[in-house]
Amino acid sequence: MPRALVIYAHPVPESFNAAIHGTVTATLRAQGWEVDDCDLYAEKFDPVLSMEERRNYHDTSINTAPVQGYVDRVRAADALVFCFPVWNFGFPAILKGWFDRVLLPGVLFTIEDGKLNMCLDNIRKVAAVTTYGATPMRAFLAGDPPRKLIKRVVLGSIRPAKVRYIAQYDMNNITPDGRDVFLSRVRKEMEAF
Ligand SMILES: Cc1cc2nc3c(=O)[nH]c(=O)nc-3n(C[C@H](O)[C@H](O)[C@H](O)COP(=O)(O)O)c2cc1C
Repeated sequence: MPRALVIYAHPVPESFNAAIHGTVTATLRAQGWEVDDCDLYAEKFDPVLSMEERRNYHDTSINTAPVQGYVDRVRAADALVFCFPVWNFGFPAILKGWFDRVLLPGVLFTIEDGKLNMCLDNIRKVAAVTTYGATPMRAFLAGDPPRKLIKRVVLGSIRPAKVRYIAQYDMNNITPDGRDVFLSRVRKEMEAF
């Protein structure tokens, strides 16, 4: 059974992102995925990279120790699915910290003789499901960093065969029907994932 690690970053259980997260996990399970549901707030993930972690960052014999459980979950997965709202045109801090602390040298990449080699070969598919308060135009004018991070940086570093970026813009003006339409889109995307 293929395994999807769902990384979810929203503090409020009654939020739209919580509904998205529920749709993602239920649909993946219905499609035969084994889902490792990682709710960063519920797990009280600490996003702060400590002084010791920074000092040991490149020492692959010890650098994973503070987050070994998270590293094991990434290595056991065939797919990663991120569910998060866009905050300050970036990831919520708890998710940014997960990238900083978990995707370490020796996990995401190695550096040999100054050459960067990507090594997270088990991840075949990546999806991000996200929401913005801003319109597509406002996000575009701001450079839309989360879209680029997922579609360019993740594609270039994790190198999955498939990357999906599924975004609902203009949450500031969305209607209940608009929310339902987006949840249907998320369901269809996860059915086809
Ligand atoms: C701290 C914070 C920062 C935000 N920054 C942005 C932003 O930079 N761009 C944007 O489009 N929306 C921004 N928003 C709006 C959120 O993206 C929006 O509230 C969210 O997508 C709605 O989903 P939710 O109801 O599940 O929280 C921000 C919201 C918060 C709380």
